[in-house]
Amino acid sequence: MMIMLFELVFIGFGTVARGLAELLLEKKEELKSKYDMKYQVVAISDIRVGSILDGRGIDLRKALKLADAGENLESLPAQRKGLSAIETIKESHSNAIVEATWTNIIDGEPGYSHIKTALSLGKHVVTSNKGPISLHYRELMRLANNNYVRLKFKGTVLSGTPAFNLFDGALAGCSVSSIRGIVNGTTNYILTEMEKGLDYKKALKEAQRLGYAEADPTMDVEGGDAAAKIAILSNVLLGANIKPDMVKRKGISSITKEEVLGARKRGDRIKLIAGAEKKDNTIKAQVSPVPLPVSDPLANIMGVMNAITFETDCLGNFTVVGPGAGRRATGYALLTDLISIAKS
Ligand code: HSE
Repeated sequence: MMIMLFELVFIGFGTVARGLAELLLEKKEELKSKYDMKYQVVAISDIRVGSILDGRGIDLRKALKLADAGENLESLPAQRKGLSAIETIKESHSNAIVEATWTNIIDGEPGYSHIKTALSLGKHVVTSNKGPISLHYRELMRLANNNYVRLKFKGTVLSGTPAFNLFDGALAGCSVSSIRGIVNGTTNYILTEMEKGLDYKKALKEAQRLGYAEADPTMDVEGGDAAAKIAILSNVLLGANIKPDMVKRKGISSITKEEVLGARKRGDRIKLIAGAEKKDNTIKAQVSPVPLPVSDPLANIMGVMNAITFETDCLGNFTVVGPGAGRRATGYALLTDLISIAKS
């Protein structure tokens, strides 16, 4: 087998990218021996921690340590410093870009431009950024195909827990007719903590501290993140062509502790449910808080765990359950995307 050598560029070096960096360091030997995959990081560009580029390779361990300490990466030796994200993509001799900037579901920027630039230059892209994928999936896939490179985005839904990529591999040939799930870790964590007696604000703060929430947490609590994820699932698995703003949505910001506890007394649990269904060739997708009887498997998904029930033609209904957010879990999604490119 041929060795795949990734010359990697990190665009965005926040929680998720650092989760990937940690795993790359930890699993370096295993990646080589099991998957014939080697890597060298040639650039990192982040608006908060600085921008460095060095074709001879960057010391990832040192970069990770500096970024975790909130220090600037530009204190490291590098051939070029201070380049913008787009300049870094264009000027680095790299073959793969890790796009992990913040999610914007209005126009997908800046991730959309980063991904377009990288694909047009014939570089593979792995991303956990829900903005560009939920808004421009078809266009970006076309661009990747036309440039003979891969665009992988497993971490956009359920972080490292398998979801739509199951249907490329283990469940190839199986068709999905409806999707129903808990796809946002932050809100599920908040609802779980409220059931334990914590109030909404404190629970949200803790979700932010644990690295679950978006840079702008209204994306989580008002259902925007879940809307982007159900749009991605619908477009990839149901053949839809919808955008997040076409998903009818309501979040959890107006739900009180009393309502959460009241639902429990009645034998229910309030969950933020995202659903999509294909009927007569049209797709209906929505996100809203729903009281579920505890006999429903989704009612027992607690904390940052997520779950999706898929209705399929070959297997009937089945549910996947696993972590839906967090540094290591989402970093792992990017790692599996890189491995899948190396294998192909
Ligand atoms: N903010 C997101 C969540 C991160 O809480 O699910 C993972 O997409």
